[in-house]
Amino acid sequence: MHPAIYILSIGLPLAQAAGPLQSNDNNNVKRATQTLKIDATKPTDSFTVPADFVGFGIESAFLNNFHNDFSANLVSSLRQRMSQPPVIRVGGTSGDKFIFDPDQKEVKKCVAGDCPQGSDATYRLGPSFCEGYKAFPDARISIQAPMQESPTPLNNTLAFVRCAWDARGGDASKVAAIALGNEPNFYKDTTAADYAKDAIRVQKAIIDELGLQGDGRRFFEVANTASSQDAKFGVADVLKAGINENKLSNSAADHYYQISGKHDWTDDEMQTQMLSHRAITERLQNRYAASIAASRAAGLPYIMSETAAVLGGAPLSFMSGFGYGLWAVDFGLACMARGVSRVMNLAGRPVAGRTFWVPDPTGGDKSPGPQVRAPYPAAIFLADFVGKGEGLGAVKELDLGAADHPYLSAYAMYDAQQNGKLERVALVNLRLYNGTRISSDQRGAETFRVPVSQGVQSVKVRRLHADRGAAAMGYDFGGAEHNVTWAGQQWSYSIDQGKGHGTVVDEEVKVQDGVAAVNIPDSEAVIIFLR
Ligand SMILES: *[C@@H]1O[C@H](CO)[C@@H](O)[C@H](O)[C@H]1NC(C)=O
Ligand SMILES: *[C@@H]1O[C@H](CO)[C@@H](O)[C@H](O)[C@H]1NC(C)=O
Ligand SMILES: *[C@@H]1O[C@H](CO)[C@@H](O)[C@H](O)[C@H]1NC(C)=O
Repeated sequence: MHPAIYILSIGLPLAQAAGPLQSNDNNNVKRATQTLKIDATKPTDSFTVPADFVGFGIESAFLNNFHNDFSANLVSSLRQRMSQPPVIRVGGTSGDKFIFDPDQKEVKKCVAGDCPQGSDATYRLGPSFCEGYKAFPDARISIQAPMQESPTPLNNTLAFVRCAWDARGGDASKVAAIALGNEPNFYKDTTAADYAKDAIRVQKAIIDELGLQGDGRRFFEVANTASSQDAKFGVADVLKAGINENKLSNSAADHYYQISGKHDWTDDEMQTQMLSHRAITERLQNRYAASIAASRAAGLPYIMSETAAVLGGAPLSFMSGFGYGLWAVDFGLACMARGVSRVMNLAGRPVAGRTFWVPDPTGGDKSPGPQVRAPYPAAIFLADFVGKGEGLGAVKELDLGAADHPYLSAYAMYDAQQNGKLERVALVNLRLYNGTRISSDQRGAETFRVPVSQGVQSVKVRRLHADRGAAAMGYDFGGAEHNVTWAGQQWSYSIDQGKGHGTVVDEEVKVQDGVAAVNIPDSEAVIIFLR
């Protein structure tokens, strides 16, 4: 066991703030103590989080599988927690290779590659495919312009973009961006400069085709580079190659997968490579920090447009269990604290398994559906941390020392506009608890002692919880033993078609001697609402 007490000292010296330390030596455990300073008002190095930080990503060729009430309800459930519409990315490898045939009657035909559902398949579309772009009326969609064949045949790309755009009502307020290609660092014999040159050519043709005018031309998401460590080039290189010299980009994007390659898929691997704040923050630093910095220096919001804990080949426990949900929480929080403007969580394709939900039965035995999967409530958690209806928030990570404490993280959210006051604290305990293997009375826990402002009698705590911990698969997949709840609420296909059900549980934690002691079991995350 491994408990530790953290003293979060809100701008006050420890002695005044925290009162006497409680010693707690049950289980022969030596408790570490650590003092953390939380600024009581917004620090200058905080990041103001866009209201549409939380989004979802759908693999282009499978958009129509998601054009149903169930998926719309799940997106609306998120929308209700946000003060701006979320963005749904419709993109990926399949959409980069689309062949558009204005005369085809069928919605789509798989014409090459690993048909019918593989990640390398090429699809020929008829105009009725674009019906899918009418989905999610209360969200914005980003449309991906196919670019993989280099140089891009403009007639094909323009016909497809036109079709998707018209289905969106030709309404720029319903479209977040037009993304120029997908993972260009995987294009054959293509440098950052080659991609930038072709992207600018495609961009110009789209502006003409859609008749975009003035500032309305500033509408393009660039890069969408692949996540691999040895990628030929990244966002920084694409920007350096001059892709935004015409100032017509509105964002730059990267893809992020935490784990790829061959693995044994053990709990030990899940703990050290996925449920690890250290693993997450090291990867963010090594592979992405330069891209985030270059994007922000160019004045472009930086987006993690395709993200998942695992790339593929893993059991469903890794790809859509609650371990993934906890990963998504810490990944999302770590991203926002590092200046990332949006994170798109994968809905992907029905058969892929790595997903927040499965929209329909087409995944077969590989990934049964329709189902809400265990990670979905992580999106709601993140949206509630960003906040709604109270102006923007500004986030700052609290440094717990990832080297010594790889499984814990903490983040403060401030009012970014009115008075800069501390509003919420998110605490994440990524220590893996497997309720299938270990009994609940052996579940460890951490206690965070959070000093609060004078006069505050109690704080409100909401929990992202599963009795089974990281082994929970969600109600739809695993039944009632596998529930995952956020503040007592749950989302399910079979019970509520994605609308959510259950009464909100607000836990009241009494303040004693100016301190609220909040207990966080292993494999759980909480938000403390301070005001
Ligand atoms: C684009 O041009 C090519 C070559 O002429 C043609 O084969 C293809 O059908 C055209 N595509 C569209 C959507 O017009
Ligand atoms: C939990 O334990 C069960 C039973 O040993 C195992 O099958 C599973 O892979 C473990 N991990 C997770 C995350 O479910
Ligand atoms: C799990 O959730 C279902 C659906 O809300 C509910 O009926 C059931 O009582 C829950 N089970 C447990 C053990 O909490």
